[in-house]
Amino acid sequence: MEVLKAIHERRATRVFSDADVRPAVVQDLLRAAAQAPSALNLQPWSFAVLHGRKRLREYSERAKVHLLHVTDPAFGLDPRIDQYASSTVNIFHDAGTLILICAKPARFAPVEDCFLAGQNLMLAAHGMGLGTCPVGFARPWFNLPEIKAELGLPPGCTPVLPIVVGYPAGPVPPVPRKDPEIACWHWDE
Ligand SMILES: Cc1cc2nc3c(=O)[nH]c(=O)nc-3n(C[C@H](O)[C@H](O)[C@H](O)COP(=O)(O)O)c2cc1C
Repeated sequence: MEVLKAIHERRATRVFSDADVRPAVVQDLLRAAAQAPSALNLQPWSFAVLHGRKRLREYSERAKVHLLHVTDPAFGLDPRIDQYASSTVNIFHDAGTLILICAKPARFAPVEDCFLAGQNLMLAAHGMGLGTCPVGFARPWFNLPEIKAELGLPPGCTPVLPIVVGYPAGPVPPVPRKDPEIACWHWDE
């Protein structure tokens, strides 16, 4: 698939089919993620792979309980918070696989580097017929020390971008974008 086509067609997928992603496919996605540029080529990312619908449903329930208690006004003000309080909502959209991109301690911009890796992963997934959705709502829960310990994340490893992956149940409608805003444009010929 052409890069531009993939960029324009990728959508956040929130309804997945029952088909399971295989480990070799996850490996391909991680290799694509690791092709991202990074400051000083430090490649300060590490990936936690969490697979299994039952496991992710359970994580969703626990993450929602935590979400409702975080005091960060960014979460409190989000109108979707009521939705996330509902027992029927799975914040991982009932996907079977979650790739949690974690930042390793590094100079410069490890978090930004991880987001670039995440975009690579999502575009590659789209090119492979998969759907993805970043789940920022799960980030605070994954950052709890006890959850990092439960998952066995190495010390210093900071979860920054959870991304669910699976086969889309159907096409996802386009999501409109604003025209790029030009803050300034100085162009000497
Ligand atoms: C950092 C980040 C966090 C996000 N968190 C969530 C989330 O918790 N749940 C969700 O359903 N979508 C989440 N999204 C997906 C956005 O809602 C989505 O990308 C946006 O609405 C644009 O739609 P599109 O990706 O289909 O173009 C997140 C996206 C980003 C970049």
